[in-house]
Amino acid sequence: MTVAPRTLLVTSALPYANGPLHLGHILEQVQTDIWVRFQRSRGHHCLYICADDAHGTAIMLSAEQAGVTPEAHIAAVKAHHLEDSTGFLVSFDNYHSTHSEENRRWSETIYQRIEQQGHISVREITQAYDADKGLFLADRFIKGSCPKCKALDQYGDNCEACGATYAPVDLIDPVSALSGTTPVDRASDHVFFKLGDFDALLREWTRSDSLQPAIANKLNEWITAGLQDWDISRDAPYFGFEIPGHSGKYFYVWLDAPIGYIASTQDYCARTGEDFERYWLLDNDTELYHFIGKDIVNFHGLFWPAMLHSAGLRMPTAVYAHGFLTVDGTKMSKSRGTFIMASTYLAHLDAEYLRYYFAAKLSSGIDDIDLNLSDFIQRVNADLVGKVVNIASRCAGFLRKSFDNRMSATCSEPALLAEFIQEGEAIAECYEAREFNRAMRDIIALADRANQYIDEKKPWIMAKEAGLEQDVQDVCSTGINLFRVLITYLKPVLPDMAGRAEDFLQVNVDWHRLDGPLTDHQLDTFKPLLQRVDPKQVDAMVTASKA
Ligand code: 2FM
Ligand code: ZN
Repeated sequence: MTVAPRTLLVTSALPYANGPLHLGHILEQVQTDIWVRFQRSRGHHCLYICADDAHGTAIMLSAEQAGVTPEAHIAAVKAHHLEDSTGFLVSFDNYHSTHSEENRRWSETIYQRIEQQGHISVREITQAYDADKGLFLADRFIKGSCPKCKALDQYGDNCEACGATYAPVDLIDPVSALSGTTPVDRASDHVFFKLGDFDALLREWTRSDSLQPAIANKLNEWITAGLQDWDISRDAPYFGFEIPGHSGKYFYVWLDAPIGYIASTQDYCARTGEDFERYWLLDNDTELYHFIGKDIVNFHGLFWPAMLHSAGLRMPTAVYAHGFLTVDGTKMSKSRGTFIMASTYLAHLDAEYLRYYFAAKLSSGIDDIDLNLSDFIQRVNADLVGKVVNIASRCAGFLRKSFDNRMSATCSEPALLAEFIQEGEAIAECYEAREFNRAMRDIIALADRANQYIDEKKPWIMAKEAGLEQDVQDVCSTGINLFRVLITYLKPVLPDMAGRAEDFLQVNVDWHRLDGPLTDHQLDTFKPLLQRVDPKQVDAMVTASKA
């Protein structure tokens, strides 16, 4: 099956360079990576671009606390992030940083274009200021008693005890979380992006196919309520880029964060000689997709398209949001041991177990995804080890023992194999539509049929009877051919296991290479493709996460 080749640029959200990745980050990167690997397997040119999101007050303060420069802090975090993502087989083409020269240049350029178009205004605002630390305080750096229920020690924007939301000025006895001193009101000039100028553009954008229906509805509510100016500046001291023409003012981290997608693409193109302009300039036929969590749709669904449009750059083809990760039905929790860091998982379990489990649960919607730990063990062992790998292992033994690992000269079940290949189009549609759970369900249903075929033919009985040698070879060769089709469909999810299967099959299992059967084909000796999940390792991971 040939499909006209497409060129795609795909991103996942840039993790903050301020702490380790947890399984919530991994859910998003795995979702993106499966989609990217699927596109590549279909023969498309698909770049996967990401970076660390390195700016902001929180990062500046963590570095200070650790007694290192922000640059040293973000470099160390970036190295850890990459190690974790690589551990989960996430196949970035480029991983850059928003604290880079490319990003400084693009942030300045985009800002200047927006300013030239008249979409910037400056006005004075009053904020809480920590005179002791010499810092303006974001809401989360102010604590006090809840104005509603009087609970002590609540953050400046909402009360964890009663759920009330309020402004920091409403807190009773507010103090700076940084110094413990009482904040004072202080005025300063801020730079604003006049988002309201893009009302018509954004209304049209929410009516296009670029957004999931639930997200488009949410954005529409905001648009209807009236788009407010967006404060894009922060006062010094701030770890970020100074705004051209506004000395002492820095771009708010969320201004230059998405621009990091562009900067990382440019870094990639400089490294590889690819043409940068085809990805970000107007009038090109490449596709641009952002995978994000549903908590950041305002940035990607409103500010970002408006910024791009006003700077004369292309807008995204689509923004795909996913839900949050829960573990055993609730928000990840440190005390229950379910706030699981990526590195803790990798110290105990195989990345591909979780890639498969996430795939089996992910759809195109924004519902939360639950990692149920006992279901996880059961599902991986039953589906992958018990069904998929089982097809190859039960057939390979006979082919090795009696046929020197050689497959039959002709395919004995061409119709059955043709059906398996035919099913691939529906499975491909599921992948394309990010309905990975349906794709996995269909693939496992095919694995059931393959096992059923082998059960009916019973090669282990034929092998004991004289004169049926050819039948044994034919049945087992068919089993291997069916397995090859399945592993082709699973390769975007299980790239390492597919690699081991390729060594055994002695062919590459890319989708666009899937044609007829392997006949008179030499296999390598079969080696186990995947171990069963050991529940003890899951327990050990949970225990380690409590520590
Ligand atoms: O929410 C976050 O974790 C942000 N660091 C995501 C940034 S995505 C993009 F805009 F850079
Ligand atoms: Zn309260």
